[in-house]
Amino acid sequence: MPKLTSFFDFHLLLLFLVISAANASVVTSPISQRFKEAPQFYNSLNCPKIVGEGKDGLFLCSDEAVHVAMTLDSAYIRGSMAAILSVLQHSSCPQNIVFHFVASATANALLLRATISSTFPYLNFQVYAFDDSSVSRLISTSIRSALDCPLNYARSYLANILPSCVRRVVYLDSDLVLVDDISKLSATQLGDNSVLAAPEYCNANFTSYFTLKFWSNSTLSLTFVNRKACYFNTGVMVIDLDRWRHGDYTKKIEEWMEIQKRVRIYELGSLPPFLLVFAGNIVPVDHRWNQHGLGGDNFRGLCRDLHPGPVSLLHWSGKGKPWARLDANRPCPLDALWAPYDLLQTPYTLDS
Ligand SMILES: *[C@@H]1O[C@H](CO)[C@@H](O)[C@H](O)[C@H]1NC(C)=O
Ligand SMILES: *[C@@H]1O[C@H](CO)[C@@H](O)[C@H](O)[C@H]1NC(C)=O
Repeated sequence: MPKLTSFFDFHLLLLFLVISAANASVVTSPISQRFKEAPQFYNSLNCPKIVGEGKDGLFLCSDEAVHVAMTLDSAYIRGSMAAILSVLQHSSCPQNIVFHFVASATANALLLRATISSTFPYLNFQVYAFDDSSVSRLISTSIRSALDCPLNYARSYLANILPSCVRRVVYLDSDLVLVDDISKLSATQLGDNSVLAAPEYCNANFTSYFTLKFWSNSTLSLTFVNRKACYFNTGVMVIDLDRWRHGDYTKKIEEWMEIQKRVRIYELGSLPPFLLVFAGNIVPVDHRWNQHGLGGDNFRGLCRDLHPGPVSLLHWSGKGKPWARLDANRPCPLDALWAPYDLLQTPYTLDS
């Protein structure tokens, strides 16, 4: 059982129990954390006017809006809250941002929605149910069990999950904060036929993301011939959903996952299929938009430093998460940059 730290926790937990009693076959974990209410953020004067503002459907479908997709679950919700706050705080048109949250179909969507609403009463958002069972059968175990969570694969299904009127989305992981205006990232030009934009790392050893079995089988490794394939991190991506839908890239990703079920061609989770389908064909984004690896490696979560150059987004990818290290009183130096976005309501802040 989660520790009850306040009356409000108890209240939420009760709500969870009532809902889960009504739906007893569903396995859920309660959100045992309480969050502070974030302030309201206002558009500056020169923001594009959203046509049909106030009417949910039109706003949801607006091309003028910045669409952001994130996953939502009880394990990472503290990170998600910080990420949302950071996006709003650094945006000059925060009221033009629409958040699309993808939650597991077995999670308590009502409770997740209520938690978001009470923390961000003015947020434009939708919560979508992701049917984990469809992807579960395709998942092979990886080197880190957290990577095998079906929700980790939701990013491959955004084109189907989000309404078809949404044509472009910025996908963000939950272990990051922005310190710059997301509309700049969202406005990345995708050229004549690219589906994805993301920071590319051509100095990373691309070979190491796939097994010897993969490279020694020319039927498989031929996929990278004539492609200048470089590693990119799938935690921050600008996706043209129209092009994705037309090219049926979800199916291409699933085909690689099916191969992985038969022959082990990689060790990581949802990342390698993205590399297989897109590496070498993405639009490179400035590295400032994904200062990744701050969580350390996949095994120990050591402290890492920033890469040289400017910073628009800090990403604690890897095993160590700033909230866990702060709670354990063993923070890395850069975790201090995450802390100002932490909305967790501690027993000490409850009465203030
Ligand atoms: C790249 O990784 C592969 C496989 O892990 C390794 O065999 C190779 O030596 C590495 N190359 C460099 C330049 O480090
Ligand atoms: C190479 O991979 C293909 C596709 O998975 C498979 O059909 C074939 O048997 C593999 N070849 C070898 C030599 O393992």
